[in-house]
Amino acid sequence: MLAFPDGFLWGAATAAHQVEGNNVNSNWWVMEHTPGLPIAEPSGDAVDHYHRFPEDMRLLADAGLNSYRFSIEWARVEPEPGVVSQASLHHYRRMIDTCLDLGLEPVVTLMHFTVPRWMNAAGFWRNPAAPELFARYTEALLPILGDGVRYVCTINEPNIAAMLAGGEKADNLVANGLPNPDLGVADALLASHRRSREVLASVPDLQSGWTIATQDFMPTDEPGSLEKLREYGYPRDDWYLEQSAGDDFVGVQAYTRTFVGPEGPLPVPEGAETTLTGWEYFPRAAADGIRSAWEKSGRTPILVTENGIATADDQRRIDYTDASLRAIHETISDGIDVRGYLHWSALDNYEWASGYRPTFGLIEVDRATFARAPKPSLAWLGAVARRNAL
Ligand code: BGC
Repeated sequence: MLAFPDGFLWGAATAAHQVEGNNVNSNWWVMEHTPGLPIAEPSGDAVDHYHRFPEDMRLLADAGLNSYRFSIEWARVEPEPGVVSQASLHHYRRMIDTCLDLGLEPVVTLMHFTVPRWMNAAGFWRNPAAPELFARYTEALLPILGDGVRYVCTINEPNIAAMLAGGEKADNLVANGLPNPDLGVADALLASHRRSREVLASVPDLQSGWTIATQDFMPTDEPGSLEKLREYGYPRDDWYLEQSAGDDFVGVQAYTRTFVGPEGPLPVPEGAETTLTGWEYFPRAAADGIRSAWEKSGRTPILVTENGIATADDQRRIDYTDASLRAIHETISDGIDVRGYLHWSALDNYEWASGYRPTFGLIEVDRATFARAPKPSLAWLGAVARRNAL
């Protein structure tokens, strides 16, 4: 038996825009309906998690999980600048209360890639006031974040968000499919994260951090590739981990690796097994991300806030997760403070520009009837959670 530490969080994760449906006031909805952008299909009703969250949370809890990570949609809470929707706040508090009632530790993300339309029109993260606007949004959430919420992720994957902001090539959320990062946006996201943490510090017993996509860049044997990797990887990965020093925790989100040669990032090696997102099947990615985050952040406690695989073969999802957890267990045995594992994703959902085709979920959803069908991988992960051991 490979036992995990007492109190280890075992859960699954989602993001509002990918599951709620009809998130019409967000910048992503606007992009989905702008002709000519490389977006496979619009999010539409998504999987109607906005209304069906109690059923979804119950499936996770009944399987044996003890945690659920979800995000609050800024565009719903603050539909116009400074206008706060009390009904939306109540909605998200109901989500928190439902988690608590079911024995699921809520891990709440404040911003998962999407911003309100007005924020986009006002210059997006390039608006010099962006950190203050994000702090004001965080303040608006204070009435619902006390009382039972122990973990808040301010910003999801600022490193991917800065790359998404870098231009129009955004067909896949992996280094190769993304433009070069907009470093001004990176600075604004860091300032916003820090301001948000200052606001959150007023809530007793609340721990906050941001979540980083650790991309597991690896050099090839060619001369010059290690130098290139350092230059390429630093502004896309390491810088964010360094900036996490002093936070209560850092979220590690990992799926695959990317080789970097002397000229830059390389496509998946010939013959390697790939997933429905076209990424290499590489279950050690999370453990590598943990080691890198621990070292670069100066030993900041770690929560694995996302890890998973897009596949139509659920046995392959179990294989991937099993191998990933074994490697994560090694990092814990080596003394790294890993507090939990939140699988991406609870539900098959809207995979951004790739649409609904890549299925990351532990639960399948019929998008016409919204009927849920838990996959064997959910029962498998739930059993690991109940034993707190592999
Ligand atoms: C994001 C998720 C996304 C997942 C798979 C992460 O980059 O936080 O929103 O669905 O990876 O691509």
